[in-house]
Amino acid sequence: MPVPNPAAMEFLLSRRSRPAKTLTGPAPDRTALLPILEAAARTPDHGKLEPWRFIVLQGDALARLAEAAGARGTALGLAEDVAGKGRKQFADSPLCVAVVESPKDSPKVPAIEQTYSAGAVCLALLNAALASGWGANWLTGWIAEDREFVEQTLGLAPHERIAGFLHIGTETSAPPDRPRPDLDAVVSWVSE
Ligand SMILES: Cc1cc2nc3c(=O)[nH]c(=O)nc-3n(C[C@H](O)[C@H](O)[C@H](O)COP(=O)(O)O)c2cc1C
Repeated sequence: MPVPNPAAMEFLLSRRSRPAKTLTGPAPDRTALLPILEAAARTPDHGKLEPWRFIVLQGDALARLAEAAGARGTALGLAEDVAGKGRKQFADSPLCVAVVESPKDSPKVPAIEQTYSAGAVCLALLNAALASGWGANWLTGWIAEDREFVEQTLGLAPHERIAGFLHIGTETSAPPDRPRPDLDAVVSWVSE
């Protein structure tokens, strides 16, 4: 007989992100963040390749990144509001974990499966942060795609890319839930 975990199911059936702009301090300290990272690192990973890594960004590093993002947006000639989004993502963040997809050469595991695993790590990290009582949000945006920024400022290797910036902090308000998918539209039941 299956042994249910009602608390886990209740969490999964009601979980929702907290918009980054509604997050404030305090952010989790190292002691609080470690089990969240540990939970994320338990993500399914075909071939045990660990095709991802974490960069924990906090304090002065966030201010430095905000400044670099703003400068990069200006250098790219982006509209002020677009450039500002990249800058504010770090300026307003209590703490940010950059989840880096770091694919490994493998004769057995296709690159796409390593990408899936990196995406799954982001959701696991988001859920572990939410389950620990923090507000959290998974963002990307132009700043995650800009090779110069991610390589020069964040130190990614050329074969790596950002799977997500996971912002974690204290929530100031819980947003209303958003409409969820109609299961009838996305589920096919095949019995014979
Ligand atoms: C890969 C990925 C990137 C995202 N990037 C952004 C983003 O840059 N800006 C944004 O407003 N939302 C972004 N989102 C959506 C937010 O995470 C949003 O809060 C989320 O869809 C709400 O989900 P939930 O309520 O089910 O937790 C992204 C989602 C994913 C999966």
